[in-house]
Amino acid sequence: MPVKNSTPKETYLKDYKPAPYTVDSIFLTFDLDPENTTATSQLSLRRSQKEQDGHPLFLNGEDIELFSIKNNGTVLPKGTYKIEKEGLTIFEPPEVLNLEIKTGLKPSKNTRLSGLYETGGILCTQNEAEGFRRITFFPDRPDVMTKFTTKIIASKDKYPILLSNGNLIEESDLPNGKHYAVWEDPFLKPCYLYALVAGNLGLIKSTFKTQSNRTIELRIYCDKGSEDKCQHAMNSLKKAMRWDEEKFGREYDLDLFMIVAVSAFNFGAMENKGLNIFNSNAILVDPETATDDNFMRVEKVVAHEYFHNWTGNRITLRDWFQLTLKEGLTVYRDQEFTADMHYRGIARIEDVFYLRKNQFPEDAGPTSHPIKPASYIQIDNFYTTTIYYKGAEVVRMIESLLGKEDFKKGMEKYFLDYDGKAITTEDFVKSFDKIGAADLKAFSKWYTQAGTPEISLRFDYDDNEEEFILEIDQIASSSSKEKEPFLFPLAVGFIDISGKPLRAKIANAREVGTTYILTVSKKRERFAFKNIPKTAVPSLNRGFSAPIKITAPYEKEDLLHIMEYDEDSFTRWDASQELYKRILFEMVKDLKDGRKPLPDLELYEAFNSILTEENLESGYKACLLTLPTESEMADAQEIIDFEANHIARELLKESLGLWFFEPMLKMYKALARKKEYVIDTESMGLRKLKSTLLGYLMASRKPDAIRLCYEQFRTANNMTDQFSALTLLQNSFCPERKEVLDSFYNQWKGNGLVLCKWFMAQSQSTLKDTQGLVESLLNHPAYDDKIPNNVRALLGTFIQNLPQFHHKSGSGYRLIADQILKIDKFNPHVSSGLVQGFKLYSKVDPLRKAMMQKEMERIISDDNLSPNVYELVSKCLNSAPKS
Ligand code: ARG
Ligand code: ZN
Repeated sequence: MPVKNSTPKETYLKDYKPAPYTVDSIFLTFDLDPENTTATSQLSLRRSQKEQDGHPLFLNGEDIELFSIKNNGTVLPKGTYKIEKEGLTIFEPPEVLNLEIKTGLKPSKNTRLSGLYETGGILCTQNEAEGFRRITFFPDRPDVMTKFTTKIIASKDKYPILLSNGNLIEESDLPNGKHYAVWEDPFLKPCYLYALVAGNLGLIKSTFKTQSNRTIELRIYCDKGSEDKCQHAMNSLKKAMRWDEEKFGREYDLDLFMIVAVSAFNFGAMENKGLNIFNSNAILVDPETATDDNFMRVEKVVAHEYFHNWTGNRITLRDWFQLTLKEGLTVYRDQEFTADMHYRGIARIEDVFYLRKNQFPEDAGPTSHPIKPASYIQIDNFYTTTIYYKGAEVVRMIESLLGKEDFKKGMEKYFLDYDGKAITTEDFVKSFDKIGAADLKAFSKWYTQAGTPEISLRFDYDDNEEEFILEIDQIASSSSKEKEPFLFPLAVGFIDISGKPLRAKIANAREVGTTYILTVSKKRERFAFKNIPKTAVPSLNRGFSAPIKITAPYEKEDLLHIMEYDEDSFTRWDASQELYKRILFEMVKDLKDGRKPLPDLELYEAFNSILTEENLESGYKACLLTLPTESEMADAQEIIDFEANHIARELLKESLGLWFFEPMLKMYKALARKKEYVIDTESMGLRKLKSTLLGYLMASRKPDAIRLCYEQFRTANNMTDQFSALTLLQNSFCPERKEVLDSFYNQWKGNGLVLCKWFMAQSQSTLKDTQGLVESLLNHPAYDDKIPNNVRALLGTFIQNLPQFHHKSGSGYRLIADQILKIDKFNPHVSSGLVQGFKLYSKVDPLRKAMMQKEMERIISDDNLSPNVYELVSKCLNSAPKS
């Protein structure tokens, strides 16, 4: 690897030291202008760590101009402080300082979208993780909590609405067409939760009555003209507020809660105290322009950010290594919320589906890290599926180990003990330790060891004792260097040959009905169940009680038995996935050995019974009919065979589509006849089933199917139907493919959010001209790489299109490397997101490896590379021997 002149600096958890100074309060005054904004910060600091006496005081600051700095009204003399790239150092600081710092900002030039920036004529902020230092010089770390007051001065005409955290305490007009507003946040908070918004915005309002009878004013701001699309977000917000009161006893604490939707945003949304700022794609929905998935996401993200008010804001992080403390827990809470609002069983399947598709490969790849990492170069790189979703699974395991009641008590204790504090994940776990219901010491491995644990199970029968034996081995996962076993709950049950649940006798298991929750903690462990006959079929990891990979000695007929009879809806689905995966890999093997893969009769029977079963909820049926993703197939292979995986999966879809063409067509038509559009869980399930069926019909390649798909596109009265038809048609060479694209474009040109779908539909295509298409779309007038949503729709989708991005010509790698280098110059958060594509580096064949290596070396030898991209690319390059 070419050596760079300076390697970016790494930060270590073990080096944590408490902040030397606390900030009693800060008063910020902004004179806003997109080209030249002045920020004046008045802050009082007080030394809190005696041993720091005589040490210089450091305030972070980045890309801002210092106009002046005073202490107690006197300009700091030259030589008593210095300014460097990363901030400002004051030498020999007194014990107490009353600083006034004036800085100059250029929001319109802020393309990184971190700090104060301009988007669509609106000025807004994004400060997590380290954006506040791009506004003013400040100890930018989450354990420095302070009281914020903000005065915003701006042109009344351009920025009639001026917002910040907390309560509006004053507003008035000023000469020269300006006005001002003063906001005060009574709650102490770290600066990453600070927010400011100014603009000419549309607004919808409502109110919420809390459990203690306080009335909260709710406001959602958006682009003028989009107000109608905020209604679903508003309803979701109220549901989330009610749910948090009922499930966790958490009541909202300010009198006002605001959300602002903006079009250029680096992530989904941000939980700033009292003033959440959202990517508009996580707020704006209506039936014509948004799919059911979009509706679900709005509900989830609105809830997620709202839940942060307690898990994140009231109780915050000591340092950024604790990120999962707020993110894992808040994802757990939003998952539970979704489960309560819709069908719990389906919600669980969707969460696990997402985890396996995204987090498992991450945990098996070069950037694998524990949910509590030990070091980072750029904390921005750690807003990962591991911190968020594996983190949520870890919280869920505590719930399973303790049981719902004790978990609830632990959470209550947590809120009681740590309100207003900046704490660690150990503090969180301690809340449950204290109630003494389980030994959680061994559990801490989940926080410090990376990699998905792999478990191998054996079934045995002790004839003398008449006991069914489960023998469990923890195999060290390939990606983790450490070998310590994990402690986890394993929920198991038994089904008899006629399909009935069996009641077992076992010591040391928590019983929930006929499910037994074992606590597994050793490298090898044996569990003996009485009252279970030899012929019983064990059902394992019910509800996905632990985020692990299990190998068990199941025959295909056992899987079919579980699919048919298990009481646990997750395990039934999981058995279907295991069965499909086995069949897919048999086909992959056939292909490699030059045999023609043959249809599997057992599968056809299973598929048939799913299709014809009348008592299945439609959404659940759709889950059961869905094959594992190519990403999951790749995750199961040592060296990924992109082509064979793709061919096998397409072939299986095709043969199922052909075999079941008639019954599927009939079902599809019955569903399509229902023209009335309703947004509720059941109707969404029906639409999901409809598009799943259409997917199989299309896979049959029959002209009839294309006609049907085209009809669905043409007559759709909602985006869900329109988009699924559009996407499916992009996978078949037919005249309709182009026709629907053009018609979609003409219908929606001018709507940036919908055009993202148009980009996605094209870059997810499995047809061989996809890469060229993606390349030409980079120059399309509707494509703007300054809008992160555009980049993610076009290029983010492309890197997930495994057979295309990993095409053996290497042109996919070149394209993405070019784009990483280009985008890195103005937005390192977005460019580093695209490095994801190279995460399979250690698992590709030598030919691809050489090509990937070449592109990554080209990236890393760029002289002006961001530390963000450097950190990820260097990890990828170091993960495999050079070819
Ligand atoms: N805290 C935000 C959330 O709700 C995400 C912030 C992402 N920030 C970042 N630097 N990647 O999950
Ligand atoms: Zn979050």
